Amino acid sequence: MKSSLANLNESQPVFGSLVGKSQAMQEVFALTRKVAQANVTVLLTGESGTGKELLARAIHNLSPRRDKPFLAVNCAALPDNLLESELFGHEKGAFTGAVSKRRGKFELAHQGTLFLDEIGDMSFEAQAKILRIIEEGRFEPIGSEKTIEVDNRIVAATNRNLVKEVEERRFRQDLYYRLNEFAVSLPPLREKKEDIPLLINHFIKEFNKELNKKVEGVSDVALNYLEKHNWPGNVRELRSVIKRAMVLIDGDVIWLEHLPFEIHLRSEEASKEEGEFLSLKENEKRHLSWILTRTKWNKTKAASLLAISRHRLDRKINLYNLKPTQ
Ligand SMILES: Nc1ncnc2c1ncn2[C@@H]1O[C@H](COP(=O)(O)OP(=O)(O)OP(=O)(O)O)[C@@H](O)[C@H]1O
Ligand SMILES: [Mg+2]
Repeated sequence: MKSSLANLNESQPVFGSLVGKSQAMQEVFALTRKVAQANVTVLLTGESGTGKELLARAIHNLSPRRDKPFLAVNCAALPDNLLESELFGHEKGAFTGAVSKRRGKFELAHQGTLFLDEIGDMSFEAQAKILRIIEEGRFEPIGSEKTIEVDNRIVAATNRNLVKEVEERRFRQDLYYRLNEFAVSLPPLREKKEDIPLLINHFIKEFNKELNKKVEGVSDVALNYLEKHNWPGNVRELRSVIKRAMVLIDGDVIWLEHLPFEIHLRSEEASKEEGEFLSLKENEKRHLSWILTRTKWNKTKAASLLAISRHRLDRKINLYNLKPTQ
């Protein structure tokens, strides 16, 4: 068994709490380092689970505003009236249920950074109000005549395709142009697969602490499957897969048997999509290897699961040169 951990310890390209050594992530880090210093609005785009929230925090922590508040608002989680009250605040009695005065996030994040998450899910009306604050730096809390001046750095994020949203008139073009002044796009995991070993190592460390385990790495076979998977849920999905494996594990290595079955299935599908078909022999070899791993090389059990004799299993193990240390 060659654990993936050993060769990863040398250098860990870390940016805030993000890791990544792929060209794509190095470009994201370089761009972010620059934009963090400038007082411009930033739009973070990328599929779900690609690290937009982590990057928003990194931008704040690298900016001259780092000692001021960083506040996040999930624009998709609240209906319009509650979102507006969350953002702008309200006077006592401004609407039913407004039993006391409340300060909004724009005001609370004064001189700091306001992270508008899932901005693509915000209503058209709320978008107009946001645009005004970004342009003018002032607003009135709900039910108040008093204008409040604020200095916020806005970082917005969305996993939607805003160009399409604008075309379909669900997102205001003017706000889009304003936000798109500086856009950073996070690549999906399937386009930065060289980061997978690094990310696995990062999560193993995290969960060793959290779950009080002493896991050292993943087996080569397991890593191979993890690298083949298409990762529709991106880094979040990888993190969950590693966490699940580490809950199951008794020893110090993550084997194929600790990975959820869809990793095996989807990997095969993905390789077919890429036009890479498995030969019958290769398929048999992988299946044997998988069963042997699952049975912890209990050959009697493996032969029984495969419905072949022990003797035939031994011949196949020799033929494919399978070893328990894989
Ligand atoms: N480069 C990375 N290094 C380490 N952890 C990462 C990285 N990218 C993402 N993660 C982890 O993946 C998970 C998802 O990240 P995050 O919440 O930032 O995604 P997101 O892009 O905001 O997703 P969504 O669009 O669904 O809100 C988090 O647990 C985060 O810690
Ligand atoms: Mg997010």
